[in-house]
Amino acid sequence: MPPWCPISPYKGLLILVIAFVLLEYFMNTFTSSKTSLYLNTTKLLSDDKENRYGPLLKTLLFKNNKTYSYNKTILSTTKNESYFSYVVTHPPSLASKLNNSSLTPSVSEATSTIEAQNESIPLCPDDVSFNLKGRIPIIRTPVPTVQDLEKRFNWLQPGGHWQPENCRVLSKVAIVIPFRCRGEHLLLFLQHMHPFLKRQQLDYRIFVVEQDGEKSFNRAMLMNIGYKEALNVNHFDCFIFHDIDLLPEDDRNLYTCPNQPRHMSVAVDILKYKLPYPEIFGGVSAISTEHFKLLNGFSNSFWGWGGEDDDMSNRIRYHHLHISRYPLTIARYTMLTHKKDKPSPSRYDVLKQGQQRFDKDGLNNLQYKLIHKKFNLLYTWILVEINQPS
Ligand code: BGC
Ligand code: MN
Repeated sequence: MPPWCPISPYKGLLILVIAFVLLEYFMNTFTSSKTSLYLNTTKLLSDDKENRYGPLLKTLLFKNNKTYSYNKTILSTTKNESYFSYVVTHPPSLASKLNNSSLTPSVSEATSTIEAQNESIPLCPDDVSFNLKGRIPIIRTPVPTVQDLEKRFNWLQPGGHWQPENCRVLSKVAIVIPFRCRGEHLLLFLQHMHPFLKRQQLDYRIFVVEQDGEKSFNRAMLMNIGYKEALNVNHFDCFIFHDIDLLPEDDRNLYTCPNQPRHMSVAVDILKYKLPYPEIFGGVSAISTEHFKLLNGFSNSFWGWGGEDDDMSNRIRYHHLHISRYPLTIARYTMLTHKKDKPSPSRYDVLKQGQQRFDKDGLNNLQYKLIHKKFNLLYTWILVEINQPS
């Protein structure tokens, strides 16, 4: 047949089929999606869990028997429970096949939930004002129970995590709370913060970092630990360090990290909604992951109340960064009442010598013992032992 002749219908169909197969092949080979699988393996815990679970999941996840690469993160291991996530990279066409039914019976013994994070969904809008309320009430009574809150916030994912369902947020935010013996405050905080952060359409997770024992408290060290442990769970772009007793009064106060470190608790009720001094960086603050690394985190040398935030303020200046703030009308907070701790008398001396230690006291000399890490529905709980050098 000469080349100018019209193509026969059979040949045309054949060409179309080949083109389609090639396109499908191309799409599957050169583009990829990611799916996170979170598995809670209460029943399957055994010594060979690593060997048994990993390869099994790797080959049996997909009915076509192909293996795909995955990143495995052990999220928590306690005595009777183990919880971890797999992020599986796979061709987009497999997204719908990734579900419980493709797991083998032995693997599906574990209760599993699947969170598909398809990279083809659109980005969330930058402007979230349509979803905000502005000033919001602070509720102090009655104090809710954990069960109340878990029922009310059943849209959460384990570890106090949420992200918008129908759009993708580029920046992941970790809220880190240094904690000890403030059960009621924690419940009031969670009750207030989860709906607040959700309205801001954030991809966030709440970490409660608790210091074990009764010895001198070290707020800064707990925040450094929160940073390190959070990054073991997931990638985060932004850290909000948050006192448990401060509740934001206005949801236009966005829990994000701007270009410069942001001091968030500018106007606190008990301080007559005024900034006590321009360098203050205490209460609630936002620092990007990148800056926190540059700053070498907080100093680990402040035991007892006070000074650690002033030292961070000095670190920020030393690194030619500056403290940014929302206006007093937006960055408003209510402080929950508690017995005031006695300020540490040594804090001024430690602060004075701070600069000599900026590059050797912080993230790079942090030492602690992780006692427990648990993914409660309302928050990721990290219990640690830290020791004051004698
Ligand atoms: C302390 C800070 C504290 C500030 C405001 C200062 O004297 O050193 O840690 O944040 O007072 O209460
Ligand atoms: Mn306080």
